[in-house]
Amino acid sequence: MKLADNKATLSFSNGTPSVDLPVYQGNIGPDVIDIRKLYGQSGMFTYDPGFLSTASCQSGITYIDGDKGELLYRGYPIEQLATKADYLDTCYLLLKGELPDAKQRGDFHDLVLHHTMVHEQMQFFLRGFRRDAHPMAVLTGLVGALSAFYHDSTDINNAEHRDVAAIRLIAKMPTLVAMAYKYGIGQPFIYPRNDLSYAGNFLHMMFATPCEEYKVNPVIERAMDRIFTLHADHEQNASTSTVRLCGSSGTNPFAAIAAGVACLWGPAHGGANEACLNMLEDIQRQGGVAKVGQFMEQVKDKNSGVKLMGFGHRVYKNYDPRAKLMQETCDEVLGALGLENDPLFKLAKALEKIALEDDYFVQRKLYPNVDFYSGIVQRAIGIPVNLFTGIFTLARTVGWIAQLNEMISDPEYKIGRPRQLFTGSVRRDVPTSVKR
Ligand code: CMC
Repeated sequence: MKLADNKATLSFSNGTPSVDLPVYQGNIGPDVIDIRKLYGQSGMFTYDPGFLSTASCQSGITYIDGDKGELLYRGYPIEQLATKADYLDTCYLLLKGELPDAKQRGDFHDLVLHHTMVHEQMQFFLRGFRRDAHPMAVLTGLVGALSAFYHDSTDINNAEHRDVAAIRLIAKMPTLVAMAYKYGIGQPFIYPRNDLSYAGNFLHMMFATPCEEYKVNPVIERAMDRIFTLHADHEQNASTSTVRLCGSSGTNPFAAIAAGVACLWGPAHGGANEACLNMLEDIQRQGGVAKVGQFMEQVKDKNSGVKLMGFGHRVYKNYDPRAKLMQETCDEVLGALGLENDPLFKLAKALEKIALEDDYFVQRKLYPNVDFYSGIVQRAIGIPVNLFTGIFTLARTVGWIAQLNEMISDPEYKIGRPRQLFTGSVRRDVPTSVKR
């Protein structure tokens, strides 16, 4: 870490001696004040629930400029990666730091596409779930269970184990998501086909049946690949921080990633695309575009508890760059499938227009995020709403792994152990009368 020219001095009004704190500079983005010695020197902790002002680690993977609406993976803008590279190229970049050359690309694609099958016993484990289980419940279980099936890649401190676990997770996640889907609808599992692209194979496992040939539609294949690329990593968000914290105890990579899956499920995070589509369908049922004004009044009423799902972001205070790319993909997919007049798409556009002009949203800098349009695309492709977060999980797996591996290789890494401001009872004695 590079020391900045200045330092911070923390002074106290009660006579406690002031404390000098070093300041470090990143390559871009805000500097950080190093408070590691603060407790030792002052006996005080800092307080920052929700990490509003806290950098939890140093990282060289993903950079977001929330005011500009910029997202860079290893320095490359998401717009360029989404148009000039595919998801597996992006995986390579996130894991290794550079885009692959032609040979590295071929080898990496081959490696991932030849590890897509899961241990046959996994399907019997899956069969223990109720058929109506939410796919995220199934995936949390299945990903955690990988550690029980692949014993030879569970040592997080062994670089070779981490590499093997990374390839296994990236390669097998589409298979697990498709299995969760097929199980829910009572269809036979479809084995992966290694001659197809990563996205094409996923579509095949989702939509093929043993009864007839399934042809991958190239527009949908491209859209799926773009959805994966746009969701591949996003800096220190809730699920990534969960993976890092979980992995910091030295647990195995599969267990750490399973913790990320569980966190991603929540509607304020990965579950937002599902919640967004449910919201659009609700408005549609109540009258569609004509009811948009009434719905917006509810959103702005703090007592209603209603949020405009797919809007707002902790970091982006501008248009989420992924939302623009997703809107493009939405146009392309709906066009290719002859769904240009899709009522939910029209409804989404009407909501977006009002929100972008309304003072409530303008003042709070609330813009559409990636989830606003991704649900419409996925629904058009035929993916059921309750699987949307599963698709996000599949795509984000590589980001979690890259971040986990970066943490393990960081000489400054320690087990994550936050402290607290205690507000409960101070010491007291159990009354004798409790014992009967
Ligand atoms: N609809 C209505 N009001 C909102 C919304 C929204 N979607 N998002 C934020 N606000 C209001 C919020 O009520 C608050 O108002 P006030 O200052 O008057 O109290 C203000 O905007 C600031 O919001 P916040 O809750 O303090 O912001 P946050 O950074 O804690 O939350 C968020 C960010 C994403 C959880 C939130 O914007 C939200 O719940 N959005 C809807 C869910 C969603 O789309 N999530 C997907 C995020 S992108 C995918 C991912 O990375 O996982």
